[in-house]
Amino acid sequence: MMNWRRLLRISNRSFLAFIFFFSMSTSCLYFIYVAPGIANTYYFMVQAQGMMLRDNVRTIGHMIRLYTNKNSTLNGTDYPDGNNSSEYIIHPTTYLPENFTIAHDLPCPEKLPSMKGNINVNMTEIPMEEIQLIFPKHLHIQSGGHWKPNDCRPRWKVAVLIPFRNRREHLPILFQHLVPMLQRQRLQFAFYIIEQTGTQPFNRAMLFNVGFKEAMKDLDWDCLVFHDVDHIPENDRNYYGCGQMPRHFAAKLDKYMYILPYSEFFGGVSGLTVEQFRKINGFPNAFWGWGGEDDDLWNRVHYAGLNVTRPEGDIGKYKSIPHHHRGEVQFLGRYKLLRYSKERQHLDGLNNLNYTPKITLCSLFKNITVNLSPELAPVEDY
Ligand SMILES: *[C@@H]1O[C@H](CO)[C@@H](O)[C@H](O)[C@H]1NC(C)=O
Ligand SMILES: *[C@@H]1O[C@H](CO)[C@@H](O)[C@H](O)[C@H]1NC(C)=O
Ligand SMILES: *[C@@H]1O[C@H](CO)[C@@H](O)[C@H](O)[C@H]1NC(C)=O
Ligand SMILES: *[C@@H]1O[C@H](CO)[C@@H](O)[C@H](O)[C@H]1NC(C)=O
Ligand SMILES: *[C@@H]1O[C@H](CO)[C@@H](O)[C@H](O)[C@H]1NC(C)=O
Ligand SMILES: *[C@@H]1O[C@H](CO)[C@@H](O)[C@H](O)[C@H]1NC(C)=O
Ligand SMILES: *[C@@H]1O[C@H](CO)[C@@H](O)[C@H](O)[C@H]1NC(C)=O
Ligand SMILES: *[C@@H]1O[C@H](CO)[C@@H](O)[C@H](O)[C@H]1NC(C)=O
Repeated sequence: MMNWRRLLRISNRSFLAFIFFFSMSTSCLYFIYVAPGIANTYYFMVQAQGMMLRDNVRTIGHMIRLYTNKNSTLNGTDYPDGNNSSEYIIHPTTYLPENFTIAHDLPCPEKLPSMKGNINVNMTEIPMEEIQLIFPKHLHIQSGGHWKPNDCRPRWKVAVLIPFRNRREHLPILFQHLVPMLQRQRLQFAFYIIEQTGTQPFNRAMLFNVGFKEAMKDLDWDCLVFHDVDHIPENDRNYYGCGQMPRHFAAKLDKYMYILPYSEFFGGVSGLTVEQFRKINGFPNAFWGWGGEDDDLWNRVHYAGLNVTRPEGDIGKYKSIPHHHRGEVQFLGRYKLLRYSKERQHLDGLNNLNYTPKITLCSLFKNITVNLSPELAPVEDY
């Protein structure tokens, strides 16, 4: 037995995997083996929300097919999220013609001819210093990453909040794609990097709350975009303005094979007006480690009687820079917290948060560095 295995040079792991698949060749197990991250996400969602597994099988089944049969990906009618989801119907373009002229005293249109669609994503790492030299000069970015169109009145004043830890090399890649895109969309914007120090697990949600409070001291922003540093938009028609309803921009991630993993998914990149964000008491502060806080935000949005909208078709596509969750621990208590989203909503969020930031103004962003710990957001028992 041992000799035979050595002869074939099969590692223990692949040998076990082989036995595993040979004996129980149900596609679901195969799926869990090849895509543990997604399976894990499902697992927690099912636990947290008491979601009916049956409702999800359609989507999981579809993912398995994508893994096992590449042919099925190309059929637009085969979209997993519902029967006749409007998301996958390609709408005729209603973008303004090339010769359209905008006026400096009128609001900027939302569908400008400068928004061409696909962006060529270039993941090449470049030094931050290089971008900090080029952008202010050639793209007229003011300190703190401020920019404002001068040929029309910007429709939204957008604060882009980016939580951050140990990802220095990702920042220039994001800026390189985001800055030209937001300029083509004629939005007024600035960037806030909220960096967590200390030894506590990463708290993405609390960083967003801190970023929000600090950003509002600068300017009366009316729209907030919550942006992961490793998500690069692939389409410049993904308009980063806000709307009547909270928006989930990152509807299709390459790491999830461009499929919405579950209909309540609200991670990656999302946007709320300041009014909506205040109404839902911001993000929860109690999610230490990755996972769950975006689901909680989705719950908050729904308990506030709001719905989430998403870009249509391929507009919501994103590429993720590899090394996700590098060195960051998962938050295992999240499904328990998610059960009490409603009760916690008004106890934990913007209203119970204390912190002492260290702020530096850089040429492309404001650097808000903060040491977080659970004592900064006390919650009474509920
Ligand atoms: C994919 O499609 C091609 C051509 O339609 C077909 O020959 C091939 O068998 C298909 N592959 C699978 C795995 O179904
Ligand atoms: C896509 O689906 C339609 C309708 O179900 C079918 O007629 C067509 O052959 C499919 N195309 C591919 C490439 O599978
Ligand atoms: C699919 O369509 C059926 C009837 O046409 C409807 O009852 C059901 O809710 C739809 N499902 C989704 C996910 O839209
Ligand atoms: C599906 O979408 C098509 C095209 O928009 C529409 O004509 C049709 O009525 C829809 N069917 C259902 C069941 O919603
Ligand atoms: C702009 O271009 C469209 C066709 O692309 C044409 O019909 C229209 O007359 C043009 N308008 C002006 C003001 O040139
Ligand atoms: C990607 O970016 C790097 C650094 O700016 C540049 O040298 C390279 O030519 C770019 N690649 C493509 C395909 O544009
Ligand atoms: C949100 O969506 C649900 C179901 O589609 C709908 O019944 C409800 O009216 C929507 N709420 C708002 C505020 O539009
Ligand atoms: C932000 O500032 C801190 C010092 O306050 C520094 O250590 C950190 O590297 C800065 N972050 C970025 C992304 O520049």
